[in-house]
Amino acid sequence: MSGSVRCLVAGNWKMNGVLEEARSFVSELGNNPAPERVEVALMPPFTLLQALAEPLRQKGVSLGAQNVYYEPKGAFTGSISPMMLRDCGCVYVIIGHSERRDIIGERDEQIRKKMRAAWSAGLEPILCIGEHLEERENGQTNNVLKKQLAILEGGIPEAASLTIAYEPVWAIGTGKTATPEQVEETHAFIHEELQRLGRDCRVLYGGSVNPGNAAALMKTPGVNGALVGGASLKADSFMAIVAAAAEAN
Ligand code: 13P
Repeated sequence: MSGSVRCLVAGNWKMNGVLEEARSFVSELGNNPAPERVEVALMPPFTLLQALAEPLRQKGVSLGAQNVYYEPKGAFTGSISPMMLRDCGCVYVIIGHSERRDIIGERDEQIRKKMRAAWSAGLEPILCIGEHLEERENGQTNNVLKKQLAILEGGIPEAASLTIAYEPVWAIGTGKTATPEQVEETHAFIHEELQRLGRDCRVLYGGSVNPGNAAALMKTPGVNGALVGGASLKADSFMAIVAAAAEAN
């Protein structure tokens, strides 16, 4: 990746937040210290997208969703289409988060369809990949990531935008982060694999990122930003991570 690419710090609220909390969060959001080097984005639950679109736009924060269905419209009760997300002002959508893979049972084939559907609607997918602890301990990390990235094989349209989030499953919500050495090595492998697939892009790190560890992680070679869960729920801790990314880039 060339050094001139803006890094991305994105907050994934998961299933958290109601209107009142979202309003106070936005009112407490400070300024992005380096908008030319760091992009800030927020992925609240679907129910808050409409309400947050305009206030976040005014603060220069991009809007994204946490999931999408792959059909454009029709009898799919409870599902949300890519165009509906665009209609709410989303530019990003998280696809293939490990919580959806492991809890909801989402498989590569659905993830592949969701990527295509997001691209067709002009959304930028943030494709999440990552290994389980047992896989890391058995030396399977690169094989797992390679297989997860294989859904991109031959399928990335010319004009499509793409961001990858490397989120080791064992580091999500556990307070355990991968060491900068593990992150550097794994991000290097992912960038290499993306080049082989014909499209290198930003690779974010995710998994217990907080204001205390963000500086070291954001400085790690091959890291182009962060996907933040728990620490994105409070404006001050989220903005501290943004500041660390600004410092590092
Ligand atoms: P935590 O930052 O809470 O570990 O969550 C990471 C994550 O899953 C972001 O998508």
